[in-house]
Order: sequence, then structure tokens, then C-alpha cells
Amino acid sequence: MNKQLQRHNAVRLQGRYGIPLLSLFLFMGLARAEVALPTRAQLDEAYQVSIKHLLNNLKHPGISPGAVIASPSTSSPNYFFHWTRDAALTHESLYQLFESTQDSELKQQIRSFANSWIDFETKAQINSMGKTAGLGEPRFFVNGFVNEAEWGRPQSDGPASRAITMMLWAQKILTEENGEDFVKTKLYRVEWPATSLIKMDLEYVAHNWRAPSFDLWEEVRGLHFYTLAMQRKALMMGAKLADRLQDLAAATFYLIEARNIEAQMNRFLEAGKPYVVVTLDHPDWTGNKHSGLDIAIAIAVNHVLYDDPFFTSHKDLFTNTLVELEKRFREIYPINHIDSHAPGIGRYPEDIYDGVAFSGAHPWFLATHASAEYYCKISKLEASSERALELKNKGLSFMARTLRHRNQETGEMSEQFSRYTGHLAGASHLTWSYASYITAYQACE
Ligand code: NOJ
Ligand code: NOJ
Repeated sequence: MNKQLQRHNAVRLQGRYGIPLLSLFLFMGLARAEVALPTRAQLDEAYQVSIKHLLNNLKHPGISPGAVIASPSTSSPNYFFHWTRDAALTHESLYQLFESTQDSELKQQIRSFANSWIDFETKAQINSMGKTAGLGEPRFFVNGFVNEAEWGRPQSDGPASRAITMMLWAQKILTEENGEDFVKTKLYRVEWPATSLIKMDLEYVAHNWRAPSFDLWEEVRGLHFYTLAMQRKALMMGAKLADRLQDLAAATFYLIEARNIEAQMNRFLEAGKPYVVVTLDHPDWTGNKHSGLDIAIAIAVNHVLYDDPFFTSHKDLFTNTLVELEKRFREIYPINHIDSHAPGIGRYPEDIYDGVAFSGAHPWFLATHASAEYYCKISKLEASSERALELKNKGLSFMARTLRHRNQETGEMSEQFSRYTGHLAGASHLTWSYASYITAYQACE
């Protein structure tokens, strides 16, 4: 779409929704005139509250220890399940918190949740064996059993993400007294066939990454940049861990497969678009994702690529992906016209999932946090301090957006916020929304 047409569309959309919405918001006393950056106090307060809400979800009554509910919501939508992906990303943010906090009580809590999570995943892995998707099973009941309802499966980012967070812990534990015993008992053993948690996931990744799987949004079957990035990272970390534990043949094998994955990842950069496309090789394409634009690219960078030459040597193409997404979402969501904050960001421009049904999608907390985190992370790669500050402020302006739309009394963040009113939408208290705030906050410190 050319510039003029874009401007035309933006004006047209504003004409359609802008005036009534603006008066509505003026009436509600919410309108703001200029780009606002959040204050340190606002950011800190939301950080503490997000940690509290996240931990509350892990302590939710009636769940097995170690289960990570996606949300306490049991209907419209029912998210009262343990998703492997949500759990792994949540525990990754907790690991970061563990590493950065001075609060010894919090440290202890995180460690104990991580231990329960290890035991929960060990059971979940066993329960998924022999089922349709094997270790690629995306979703479990809160007691660790497989939910066999029809669903998009396998989702192959799951085992990779789980292995990544487990390996962060494994490497840390290996530096502790008797750590090696713990790792060999619970996490990684040199044996074949694999029976330990991390090695089973790594073998699954190394042997199955070529097979199409469902994307992180559980909708499209194909080969996904996000999934491949997680798989490559898991195998690279796996090679290090295998080497450390004298599993030398495995270390070599994991490295070779990581390189093979990298060759595939290059195809997403060279797909003829001025940005990184999200999915290729979709064998039963019925979807509407024509642009190939998706915030999953930023999520991949934030978790596993930002310090990697694969990313740094193509940084402009990645950043252009975010610039394009920002432009599209600014046009698409009326809420983004009422002020000059950075726009609320959704999953992908063609999305219609409203959090319960398909009336049209809204911006997501975790997608907007992913943009914040991305800009704050790349600000640290800048040599010029002026440019670095500009990028960091851009990141912070996305934080201002979600701070504005979370519940102002309780600090609750759900999955989405309404594209019309900014009010909470979709699953309540989404665990991943809090986890993504925590990692964005840390990146933007
Ligand atoms: C629920 C999934 O979790 C969500 O990502 C998806 O958009 C809808 N189902 C529709 O498939
Ligand atoms: C829907 C999202 O699309 C998916 O990524 C997530 O795993 C589930 N909801 C649970 O939060």
C-alpha cells in the first residue's frame, strides 16, 4: 500500500470512529494530547502488581503444584488449562526476576515454583506420550493430564520453549553444591533412549522440527519463524549442556540440527517482503493472514535472538517488521486514534479473534509489551546515546499504552483491551500478560 493510500485510509477510519470515540473519551476524562512516557513510579508500581498477580495465578486453588494456568477464567473463554508455551515463557520471566531481585523471600518462592514446575512437566511429558501430538501436545488440564478435545496440534514451540527455560535453571543449578546430582536426577541424563525432561524435549526438537506444526497462536499449520527460532536456540543451549555433561555425540547432533534450522530461518528473511514473514510452507492454508506480518517476530527476538548475530546482521529488516505492524495497527484499531500514545498492538493485522469469539480482534497486552521490549532491547545495541534514548523512549511509550488500559484500581491485565474503549477484553488476569510486562520492564530499566 502506498503512503498516500495509507494516509487516506487512516483518515477514513478516523472519520468513521474517531469523532464519536474522541468525545466519548473526553467525556470520560481520558483523552490525552501529547505522547506520554510513564513515570518511574508508575512503571515500578505496575511491576510489583504484575509480579503479585502472576504469583497469584500459580497459587490458584485446585490446581496441581507446578501447573501454570493461562488465566483463572473458566468460561468465555475457558483458559483454565496449563499451556506448555505460556508456562515456559512465564517461568523464563520468573527466572529473570530470580536473577535480578534482592528479595530473598521472593527468590525462595520462585525457586520453589520452578521445582514444582519441573515435577509437573515431567508428569505432563509422560502423559502426552502415546497421544496424538506426543511431546508437541500444547495444552493440559491443571492436573497434568492431556486435554483431548479437538485443537491445533502439535505445537512444536512448546518443547523448545520448555527446554530453554529448564536449561537456564540447569546451568544455574550446575554451579551450586550437589547441583550436578539434581540435574542428573531431574533434568538431563546421558542415556539413550532419552528419559529425562530436557533431553526428551531436545530429541523431540532435533528430530521433528522439519514437520509442519501449529503456530504459537494455535491457528495455522506450517513452518513458523517463531517456532524455528525457539527450536534453534533450544538446540544451541542443548549442545552446551550436553557438552558440559559429557554427552558428546548429542552435543554434535544438536549443533548440526541448529545450523540446519538456521538455513530455514533465512528463507523468512528472503521471502520478497520488506519485513520478516511469519509463516512459510503452510500445507492446508485456509487462513486470512495475507500480509505475513505478525508480532511473533518481535517475541522471537525478545526471547532468543536479540544478542545473536542472526539478528544483529539483519536488524533493520526486523525493525521494519515492527514499524509496519505499528502502522497497520494504528490504522486498524480506533483506540489508537484518540491520543498520541504508541498504538496498542495486536497479534497480526488480519486477526479476528476477540478473546471469546470472532467479532474482530483487539490489541493484546503481551503484543504491546513485546514492542516495548523490542525497542528497549535494541536501544542497548546503539552506539549513539541520543539514538539509544530515542529507541528506549519509544519502548516506554508502548508501556504507557498498556498502563493506561489495565484496570486502574487493581492493576489487572487481561489478554486484550477493547479496540473501541480500551477496556479489558478476553481472558481475565492472563498470566502471560504479566510475564510480558515483567520482561519488558526489565528491558526498559
Ligand atoms: C483459541 C486460541 O487459543 C486462539 O489463539 C485462537 O485464535 C482461537 N482459539 C481460534 O482458533
Ligand atoms: C491464545 C493464544 O493465541 C495462545 O498463544 C496462548 O497459548 C493461549 N491463548 C493461552 O494463553
